Amino acid sequence: MSTSSLFRPFSLKSLNIKNRIVMAPMTRSFSPGGIPTPDVAAYYSRRAAGDVGLILSEGTVIERVSSSNDNNIPHFYGEQALNGWASVIDGVHAAGGSMGPQIWHMGIMDNHHSGWLPAEPFEGPSGILRPGVSNGKAMTEADIADAISAYGRAAADAKRLGFDCVELHGAHSYLIDQFFWNETNKRTDIYGGDSITARNKFAIDVIKEVRRQVGEDFTIIIRLSQFKPSDYNFKLAKTSKEMEEWLQPLADAGIDIFHCSQRRFWEPEFEGSDLNFAGWAKKITGKATITVGSVGLSGEFLAAFRGESSEPSSLTELIRRMDRGDFDLVAVGRAILADPLWVQKIKEDRTSELKGFSKEALGQLL
Ligand SMILES: Cc1cc2nc3c(=O)[nH]c(=O)nc-3n(C[C@H](O)[C@H](O)[C@H](O)COP(=O)(O)O)c2cc1C
Repeated sequence: MSTSSLFRPFSLKSLNIKNRIVMAPMTRSFSPGGIPTPDVAAYYSRRAAGDVGLILSEGTVIERVSSSNDNNIPHFYGEQALNGWASVIDGVHAAGGSMGPQIWHMGIMDNHHSGWLPAEPFEGPSGILRPGVSNGKAMTEADIADAISAYGRAAADAKRLGFDCVELHGAHSYLIDQFFWNETNKRTDIYGGDSITARNKFAIDVIKEVRRQVGEDFTIIIRLSQFKPSDYNFKLAKTSKEMEEWLQPLADAGIDIFHCSQRRFWEPEFEGSDLNFAGWAKKITGKATITVGSVGLSGEFLAAFRGESSEPSSLTELIRRMDRGDFDLVAVGRAILADPLWVQKIKEDRTSELKGFSKEALGQLL
């Protein structure tokens, strides 16, 4: 099987990358006090030197007191943290790579097992983490306005530091996704309502503010998921029509690329077609899309958090879908977390050298 379709360049506004492979955003919790260390910079530049086309950083949080539940997750605000990120992007560029930070606010969270807590309660649309579980407060309209400007400032800082694009984390039940879902968004003001059109408003305001801050020519990605970590089979959009009602307004607000998170990229989104989430997002909006989920590995990532190992697996089905035009880019998580040279091994067909993934890789910055 030829993997050459993965090794075509890709350009969209500020983003100009040498191949179609994206390192998926992966939280590592190696940034004490929110400051990325030289080890973090070296970890990312090893991926650039290993020919990853676009690196998306681990989620890095905006300037709200309770945007994070873990003191070792990097901030994307404050002089020290931004200096740390400047070293990261300079290292990546020196090694020939491209990178965007994944801008994050966790919203309502479980308390972290370390016992660390932010100085103020977690905040979200309604204080609800998942059905039946609350842990924090409902944001006031002033809190929402401040969070929107904090997203905008983070994006402007990303551009100023020289990053190639920015990704908004709108997936996996974190803040933006908590606004999308009627079980976590019970608001009765303009940020809530019965329809996805109403509950889209927070994301749309964030996207418009980010676009205002970075200008027309800077590439904005949004990461979305249908599934919830608390419910793998959940679908926010149950039909392609509902997906259009969800995604088209986000595209119109300024999104350039939809990053469509799935646990397994080959799973069809709706009955009657084998198109996956990225396939539908591209068909509906006409925007570029990124697929993700168990590329090159036998098992999926949430099982990996429970200690499950994965073996290398074939890319044939991925290439078939890519050659059909379903998506533009392919994000790879654990395989690249475990092996900075994964891309080169794929390109050179060195399959016997592929390592798969085991949980030991999570505890270190290989
Ligand atoms: C250790 C780890 C941390 C992760 N952290 C994030 C994150 O910060 N933001 C995010 O959107 N997804 C996160 N994910 C999900 C990955 O980006 C990716 O979607 C998932 O691992 C599936 O890709 P894979 O099967 O190639 O690993 C994380 C996954 C792992 C394994």
